Formats: sequence, C-alpha cells, structure tokens
Amino acid sequence: MEPVDLDVIATLARWVASAEQVVALTGAGVSTASGIPDFRGPQGVWTTEPAAERLFSLEAYLTDPDVRREVWQRRLHNPAFRVGPNPAHRALAELEHLGRLHTLVTQNVDGLHQAGGSDPDRVIEIHGTIHEVECLSCDRRVPAGPVLERVRQGDRDPRCEVCGGLQKSATVSFGQSLDPARLQRAHDAVMGCDLFLALGSSLVVHPVALLPRTALEAGARLVVVNAEPTPYDDVAHAVVRSDIAATLTTLVESVRAQPV
Ligand code: APR
Repeated sequence: MEPVDLDVIATLARWVASAEQVVALTGAGVSTASGIPDFRGPQGVWTTEPAAERLFSLEAYLTDPDVRREVWQRRLHNPAFRVGPNPAHRALAELEHLGRLHTLVTQNVDGLHQAGGSDPDRVIEIHGTIHEVECLSCDRRVPAGPVLERVRQGDRDPRCEVCGGLQKSATVSFGQSLDPARLQRAHDAVMGCDLFLALGSSLVVHPVALLPRTALEAGARLVVVNAEPTPYDDVAHAVVRSDIAATLTTLVESVRAQPV
C-alpha cells in the first residue's frame, strides 16, 4: 500500500465538503485493522483457504449437516464477536456527525460501523449481520448470543425453538437473495448522491458491485480507496491505494478544517 498523499486527500476533502449527498460503500477492507480478515486480499479467507467458500453456499448449508456444523463452530469463534471498531469505522462515524455522510452501505456483517458510532438508521447492512440468527423455515429472527451459547454447550446444529426448522446467521450466503427493501434503499441513496466512496471492497460481488456504476450513471463522482485493483479503477474520479484507516482519518481531519 502507498503512503497517504496529502494533495489527493485535500482534493477529496473539497469534494466531500462541497457534495450535496455523500454515500459510502464499505467492504471487508475497513475491518481488517480490527483483526477480521477480508476475503480476497493477500491474507483473505478465500485466498488462504479456497475450500472455505463452500461454507458460504446456501445450497451446501441446507443439504449438508457437516457444513452446518462447521459453520456454527466458525461462527462461535468469529473474531467479530471479540474485536472492536478501528479508526476507519470511527472516521466514517465522524464524517456522518459532521453532516457529510448521508448513507453508509456496508457489505460487512460485523456490526463495527454501529459500534464505531455510525447511526444505525444511516447504515444499510446489505449482506445482513452475524449478530442475529434467522430460521430458514418460519423466518423467526433472534439475537445470536443465546443460539451461540447452545452451540458452545454442544448443540452442533441448533434448530428453531418455535418450529424446529434449520437456523442460520442472518447473513446473506451465496445463492441467497438480498433483502429487497435494503437493496432498494441503498439504490435510492446512490441514485441521489453526487459523491460515492467505495472503501475497502474488491467490488466484484453482485448486485452490490453494481452500485458504483449506478452512482456514475446518476452523475456522481466515484472515489475508490482500496489496497488492490478493482473493476472500477479506470472509471473512478480518484483511486487511493493507501491504508483505509490512515486515508479516512486524514480525510476527516481535512474535511473538518474546510472553510464552512
Ligand atoms: N486498506 C486498504 N485496503 C484494504 C485493507 C486496508 N487496510 N485491507 C484490505 N483491503 C482491501 C483488499 O485489498 C481487498 O481488495 O479490501 C478489499 C476487500 O475485498 P474482499 O476481501 O473481496 O471483501 P468485499 O469486497 O467486502 O467482499 C464482498 O464477498 O465474500 C463475500 O459476502 C462477502 O461481503 C462479502 C463480499
């Protein structure tokens, strides 16, 4: 990753300060500094353990009890239940508190944006959350804690306490549809934005990966902050290859210093 370029930050800060509506899209890259690995980066989950991708398939989860047992064990030990927000999360919360961030669409399921001070009403968890569990038969949603305690106590495939159906973390698996209302809300925010910040995402997973294009078609400026190349680098108005936390922290300081 490159060092933060203060001239670029100054430009971005002017764009943020003068925008009517800023929307941010975050990916796993904003949580790596908290100790949660991303998926496709050099130390990513898929990069280091390609077979693990099967654990994120809805079809495998529904049909293979061994997959469900493995998923529950991994969920039990997921670092997201033990770590806290990092400066990237806090910088985005500060941007919102400065009135400079309208909506934060996150692909992350760790809840760290809210833990870092972002208003939950302005955060769209487009791929769901690990902090809740849903029944795949009756749609009942419950906090994840008590279900994970059942797993800790030896229940390897905890069923719904109402209907006995299979349960799963309330996260979107491959082969599973996104919540239409959340997707519509994200789309509407992007259609109304004039500055779109794509932060810490490889921008390859659809339909979320279409949001930057929607922003461009709506006439917005597109800024990509990511350690590695993304499909949007050639059409973005700015591409920053620096560390997310350092970039966002410096950006917020510069926005705060902007003339009112
Ligand atoms: N600073 C800058 N960039 C970083 C940093 C950092 N500190 N840490 C990681 N990155 C970059 C990586 O280089 C990578 O390109 O963040 C990007 C994260 O990309 P992915 O691992 O593909 O994560 P994401 O884009 O969020 O994945 C989207 O795919 O696996 C599914 O549902 C899952 O929500 C996830 C979706």
